[in-house]
Amino acid sequence: MDQAIARVARAIECAERILVISGAGLSAESGLPTYRGIGGLYNGFTEDGLPIEQVLSGPVLRSQPALCWKYLAELGRACLGAQPNAGHLAIAELQRRKPQCWVLTQNIDGFHQRAGSPEERLICIHGAMQPLYCQSCAAESETLEAALRGGLPPRCQACGGILRPPVVLFEEMLPEAALEQLYSELGKGFEVVLLVGTSASFPYIAEPVLRTRQAGGFTAEINPDLTLLSHSVDVRLAGRALDVLVNLLSHISSH
Ligand code: OAD
Repeated sequence: MDQAIARVARAIECAERILVISGAGLSAESGLPTYRGIGGLYNGFTEDGLPIEQVLSGPVLRSQPALCWKYLAELGRACLGAQPNAGHLAIAELQRRKPQCWVLTQNIDGFHQRAGSPEERLICIHGAMQPLYCQSCAAESETLEAALRGGLPPRCQACGGILRPPVVLFEEMLPEAALEQLYSELGKGFEVVLLVGTSASFPYIAEPVLRTRQAGGFTAEINPDLTLLSHSVDVRLAGRALDVLVNLLSHISSH
């Protein structure tokens, strides 16, 4: 493991353009549930008898907002009740040391921002839990925290429409601006791509890894389990995100 960490650290040390891709496994260390695997949110049916993929979908938010909000509120409370961990801090510090290091996250918890990752080098491809906005008139509204204190679903103070978070629900499109930014940066190329705590289930997560490898760059994965990309990366660091990231950062010079 130590040799493998040293190899990844060397690759990062020598690189300028670096992409860290994070998933639910990183925030699992803060106590948030993952989606797939042990303890994952998708391992069964909700207490309402429907799969979570159905209740957390765009169509259900429109047709049965109270049902969808019951589960959005659970996610929201979990995010508000937890803190970024040393893994998020290590990534933000890596971005400070490497001014061309970007983060592509699938997480909606806002922990990268809270840990100090700069907004201008952070792509939140699945959106975020805040700020809420009105589905009817688009007005931005009260904070998630305030909305969760009131009755669900929360309503717009201006027009009475249903509020929602700017998160990507099932059967919804990815945010255009985030996609544009991702493909614009991918076009410039990355020398190193580091996957952290993601099952890499989506093509736009696998693509940066495969493209970078094809172009002769270096790729690595931090995950205690095997993923769809485990056999496509140069180095697999089989461990918990927090431990490995802190260890990795200690091998990378601070100037
Ligand atoms: P997944 O739940 O699919 O995968 C989590 C990954 O984290 C798994 O590969 C675990 O092995 C790994 N893992 C668990 N604990 C870990 C730890 N302590 N350290 C490192 N890795 C750990 O989560 P994502 O890949 O993020 O989308 O899922 C992507 C998307 O699927 C989510 O953003 C969500 C869901 O549909 C939306 O909500 C739109």
